[in-house]
Amino acid sequence: MTKVDVLLGLQWGDEGKGKVVDVLTPAYDIVARFQGGPNAGHTLEFDGKKYVLRSIPSGIFQKGQINIIGNGVVLDPILFKEEAEALEASGIPLKNILKLSKKVHLILPTHRLLDAANEKAKGSNKIGTTGKGIGPTYTDKISRNGLRLGDVFHDFDTKYAAARDRHVAILKTMGENPSFDELEAKWLQGIEYMKGFDIIDSEYEINAALKNDKKVLCEGAQGTLLDVDFGSYPFVTSSNTICSGACSGLGVAPNRIGEVFGIFKAYCTRVGSGPFPTELFDETGKTIRDLGHEYGAVTGRERRCGWIDLVALKYAIMINGVTQLIMMKSDVLDGFDEIKACVGYEIDGVPTDRFPFDVNTDDIKPVYKTLPGWKTDMTKISSEDQLPAQFKNYIDFLEKELETPITILSVGPDREQTIVRSSFKKA
Ligand code: GDP
Ligand code: IMO
Ligand code: MG
Repeated sequence: MTKVDVLLGLQWGDEGKGKVVDVLTPAYDIVARFQGGPNAGHTLEFDGKKYVLRSIPSGIFQKGQINIIGNGVVLDPILFKEEAEALEASGIPLKNILKLSKKVHLILPTHRLLDAANEKAKGSNKIGTTGKGIGPTYTDKISRNGLRLGDVFHDFDTKYAAARDRHVAILKTMGENPSFDELEAKWLQGIEYMKGFDIIDSEYEINAALKNDKKVLCEGAQGTLLDVDFGSYPFVTSSNTICSGACSGLGVAPNRIGEVFGIFKAYCTRVGSGPFPTELFDETGKTIRDLGHEYGAVTGRERRCGWIDLVALKYAIMINGVTQLIMMKSDVLDGFDEIKACVGYEIDGVPTDRFPFDVNTDDIKPVYKTLPGWKTDMTKISSEDQLPAQFKNYIDFLEKELETPITILSVGPDREQTIVRSSFKKA
């Protein structure tokens, strides 16, 4: 029996998960998403083309791998249909390679309205959600009011109407007067479209695959600092983005987890509200945003930028049991004279190396170590022996601090701009 490998974000999302899942897919038989939904935006680039995937796993562009959307995911039939039809139109035989769990929870049109109403009610304390109805859908799941994809085959109209009417009543108590006829019609079309896919007991499919020594890669969405338990609560998403989310979101037992690939950027970004200890408000922050094209793949919002935060990264590595690190976007720092890394926090004058409970309210002063830049265009480098010495020093420093090997380096958005180091441990 084989184990599953898990690839997940260690920061506030958008680390480059989509790109690396695509790069690693040839070594796997199955790629599976285990949480989140269309709040994700995973970008892939190859052959001069760029794709942004929201709900569909990033393993669909290689040769014949099966892609699974697991029970831990929430799907919006409207957005799923849009995304899937565009991929079908570009020649991807999606209905042959993509399977959906019966236990996926459905995002209703009224969930989106509730997301907007909740944000409005929070006023200046709003989360800055993606507005896709993620929070209200997971809320319904946990409070046992959710609607699942498998329900489409059992008395669906009645179940849908009950859920919708319940939401309308809540929206009215919030002072909203919802109208969504057009959205509802599109949503019902989306449901019909989804019935054209293989809707399966994905927990059985994945465990049977493992029994047959097939290789499975689990693709995380969002990042550890957006995890509902361990992130910067309440400025988080509503699912477990961490490694254990792969167990509950796919029906894979904890002792079936193999390699855990933790992805991080050579700096740090965040989109939406919430604390960000190493955020830069100066020219350097703006330079990183411009060079890194740091604008949200889903909402187009500006991403906040700052230096790499090793306190937060160590925390994320601990929570996830990361076995291999993957560093993205170091090319963005190619022209910098100096690079900073946060090696500790000072809270009320007291030094700490822990990510604090009160990360939202504490006055956190990052303590930085300054390292020399490498001042070399790395975007065309394809093997580790071509790396500049100062960059190697930077990697050595990070590996020592993080006590985990960095086995893959990404030096550009394209599939080809990836350096797999000799320390990489294959599936
Ligand atoms: P994800 O949500 O983790 O899949 O990441 P996103 O796709 O939201 O954001 C990552 C962005 O960085 C995308 O625009 C990628 O095309 C781009 N990207 C990924 N890796 C690299 C890299 O190594 N260098 C540069 N310059 N861009 C990258
Ligand atoms: P990927 O998979 C970055 C953020 C939102 C907001 C918070 C809650 O592309 O890395 P939600 O809509 O989930 O209720 O929003 O989480 N957020 C993301 N930020 N990347 C993502 O996904 C995100 N998904 C949600 O901006 O702050
Ligand atoms: Mg993204």
